[in-house]
Order: sequence, then C-alpha cells, then structure tokens
Amino acid sequence: MSEKKNPYSVETTGHVWDDNLGELLNEPPTWWRIGFHASWIFVVLYTIIYPSWPLIDTHFKGVTGWTSIKEYKEDLKEIETVRAKYEDKLPGMSAAAILADDELSNYVVRSAKVLFGDNCAACHGTGGAGNPGFPVLADDVWLYGGTIDAIEQSIVNGRKGIMPKMGGMQLSDVEINKLTAAIVDGTVTSEPLYMEKGCVACHMPDGKGMAAMGSANLTDGIWRFAPGTAESVKYTIKHGVNDASDLLTRKAEMPNFSGGKLTEVEMKKLAVYVHKLGGGQ
Ligand code: HEC
Ligand code: HEC
Repeated sequence: MSEKKNPYSVETTGHVWDDNLGELLNEPPTWWRIGFHASWIFVVLYTIIYPSWPLIDTHFKGVTGWTSIKEYKEDLKEIETVRAKYEDKLPGMSAAAILADDELSNYVVRSAKVLFGDNCAACHGTGGAGNPGFPVLADDVWLYGGTIDAIEQSIVNGRKGIMPKMGGMQLSDVEINKLTAAIVDGTVTSEPLYMEKGCVACHMPDGKGMAAMGSANLTDGIWRFAPGTAESVKYTIKHGVNDASDLLTRKAEMPNFSGGKLTEVEMKKLAVYVHKLGGGQ
C-alpha cells in the first residue's frame, strides 16, 4: 500500500468546484493497474487463440482451430471407446451369458434404460411398474415365466394369452359367481366347477397357471386385469381373453420386437434389464 499522502501536497486537476473542492491527481494503486493490464492482455490472447472476431462472411477461427462441435465429437469418441469395450462382446453372447457377467450386465442395465423408456414404458409403465391391463415387470409374478430365456422369448416373439369366453353356453351366472367367489378367496381348486368346466386344463391342478401358455395364477390374489377382485374376475370368465368370437373379450397382446423393430442386441439388453428389475428367476 502506498502511504497516505497529505491531500494538500498532491496536485489537482486544476478544476475547482464549490470554491474549494478539487480532484486529486493520485496514481491508481498498483494492484489495480496490474489487474487492468492483465485483463486486456487476457482478452487479446483469448481472441487470438479461440474463434472470435466477425469478418465479412466468416469469422476469425483462432490459431488453435478449437470449436465446440469438435470438442463434443472428441468427447463422444472417448465415450464410444469405453462403450465399445462392452458392445463388441454382446453380439456373440446369449442373454443368459450377459446376465451371468456382473460387469457386463451392469453396463447393459444402464444402457437399456432408455430403450425400455422408448419401447416398453408406454405399456408397462416407468421402470416396469405396470399399468392397468399391462403386467408389472418389476415383481416376481410372471405369466410366462421369469427366467432370462422366457423373458427374452416374450420380447422377441411377443405374447398373446388366450382364454375362451365361458359366459353364455358354458357357464350360468350362478356358476360364474361361484367360481368368482372361490378365485377371490384363493380357494378355486376346491371348487368342483373348476374341474368340471375345464379351467384346470389351463390353470393347472394347483391353480397357479402354466408358463407355457401364460394362464394366470388364480390363487395369489395378484390380478392380471385391473381393477382386480370380483368384478374383473367375473368379466374375464364371461368374455375370455383374446377370444375372437366375443367382441367384449379382454385384449392382451404383447407385440413382438423382432423383424427390425429392435436389433438382437437391443432385445438381449432389454431381457437382462427386465430380469434385473427385481423379479428375474
Ligand atoms: C402395446 C403394449 C406393449 C408394449 C409396447 C410392450 N408390451 Fe410387454 N406385454 C404387453 C402385454 C399386454 C403383455 C401380456 C400379454 C398377455 O397377457 O398374454 C406383455 C407381456 C410382457 C412380458 C411377459 C410378462 C410375464 O408376466 O410373463 C414381458 C417380459 C414383456 N411384456 C416385456 C416387454 C418389453 C421388454 C417391452 C419393450 C421392448 C414390452 N414388453 C413392450 C404389452 C406391451
Ligand atoms: C384354454 C386355456 C384356458 C382355460 C380353459 C381357462 N383359462 Fe382362464 N386364463 C387363461 C389365460 C391364458 C389367462 C391369462 C390371459 C393373459 O393374461 O393373456 C387366463 C386368465 C384368467 C383370469 C384372469 C386372472 C387375473 O389375474 O386377472 C381368470 C379370472 C381366469 N382365467 C379364470 C378362468 C376360469 C374360472 C376358467 C374356467 C371356467 C378358465 N379361466 C379357463 C387360459 C384359460
């Protein structure tokens, strides 16, 4: 710091206001001058190094040729190199083998999140949480089985469970009510109609369904069709599922994703992703 000077010993600009008010001609402090010069030197160097001044039909490109697009592309290349380490392995591996490899499956889960959002979440909900009429994929209840292979098959070939309508000729309203009550109670296998009317053929003697045909478990109190319980059970029994002979039948179709909609690698990634949502077996 410079010493404080007696104001009367410093020269003034010579201009006097209000009889005795003058402006001193002190030099600006050193720190201020260093800052001032450093900042204009910085500006000049910056405009030489980086793209800057507008010219008539272009602009000065800067001596280093830096552009933000170039920087972005270089960053992208770096990411691609990291990805390639994993992506190169995927085509030659089965979904089960990918799942068995911790590092690879962690990578796949991260990269399949967007694929799931773009292709599956509209029906199955964000993170596979389910939507009315569309199965939850994040639990361990499965129509077609929760093995990695079964999940992959669901994606590659699609699924369309078929249950014939049972209303009208096959079952009276009283019978439908009996079956409905037993299903809601979780005791359908001890209801004689279950055997007599052939439900057992698809829903199996234990009432838990068969993965090969996606016949739902009727004993677990978890409902495939919203809102669940009596009314919707009754509706399913009456009108069936995907039964083309009944206009009111429930529609339940998982589209297939082969044939160009998704690549094989993408489908494998999604199978691993779904398996890892929590309910894979
Ligand atoms: C247009 C709606 C729709 C889209 C899109 C869709 N699904 Fe499905 N998915 C369904 C329906 C409906 C079912 C149940 C089929 C049935 O009940 O027979 C299903 C069933 C499944 C199953 C079997 C579930 C089980 O319990 O066994 C899996 C796995 C599955 N979907 C995964 C996916 C994945 C992964 C995607 C994205 C690539 C996807 N789905 C996209 C409607 C859809
Ligand atoms: C030909 C095989 C078949 C027969 C016979 C059959 N079902 Fe089904 N049922 C299915 C399939 C497949 C589904 C699941 C459909 C889907 O989700 O795509 C299903 C679903 C259901 C559901 C819906 C469950 C839920 O969680 O919402 C109920 C209820 C049901 N069946 C009751 C019965 C009863 C009662 C009978 C006998 C009167 C019967 N089914 C006979 C194949 C059958």
